[in-house]
Amino acid sequence: MSIAAEPVSVPPRFDGDFRRRLEDLYRWRRDVRRFRTEPLEPALVDRLLALAVLAPSVGNSQPWRFVKVDDPLRRQGVREAFARANAAALATFHGDRAALYARLKLSGLDRAPVQLAAFVDDATGAGHGLGRQTMPETLAYSVVGAVHALWLAARAHGVGVGWVSILDPDAVHRILEVPDSWRLIAYLCVGYPEEEHLDPELERHGWQARLAGSGWLLQR
Ligand SMILES: Cc1cc2nc3c(=O)[nH]c(=O)nc-3n(C[C@H](O)[C@H](O)[C@H](O)COP(=O)(O)O)c2cc1C
Repeated sequence: MSIAAEPVSVPPRFDGDFRRRLEDLYRWRRDVRRFRTEPLEPALVDRLLALAVLAPSVGNSQPWRFVKVDDPLRRQGVREAFARANAAALATFHGDRAALYARLKLSGLDRAPVQLAAFVDDATGAGHGLGRQTMPETLAYSVVGAVHALWLAARAHGVGVGWVSILDPDAVHRILEVPDSWRLIAYLCVGYPEEEHLDPELERHGWQARLAGSGWLLQR
């Protein structure tokens, strides 16, 4: 599979075949925690980030700040932060739920060859505040959009992404020594997946199935 594609300068026509393949992409995107350790080509990681930043953003503010975490000591720090947060989360469950939670694999921090932290820059002047005066949280939502774009782009290249939120964001901020105005939105494990499946990991391990009809609920 080629990494780069030339952007087209005429509006593309997306045909039925493309739409079916796009639906496959949506359906086969998974949150991945079981990674093969083989490295990803740096050019591929760059490509995924280049696609991620095509995401929409409030006021066109582009507030995403991605950090590639390579340093073994910093990675170790993040793993320890996860272990602490995960133990605290486990303590909030009881009985069978606790036993089930303890069996879940909730991050790929042990093996993922690439780790990316996505921050929002709350101090950015880009976008001149458009849309943020009424809904300041849209700055962070913009970063979530970029993460999702990255997730889909990765899947299209056969690469898995796992989002780890069982982390104290302040601890990650300290470990990565990023500017004060940056706030953690997502910590991502990236690499080739060990397995591919249509059902979410949490569904196949009995934690939470997809809810029937959980899309459009009301008509007004
Ligand atoms: C904001 C966000 C945070 C998440 N944090 C975690 C996490 O800490 N650990 C984990 O195993 N999965 C995490 N996930 C992945 C979800 O568990 C997963 O998306 C969900 O179970 C549906 O599975 P799918 O993404 O494969 O469709 C997170 C997903 C999102 C959107």
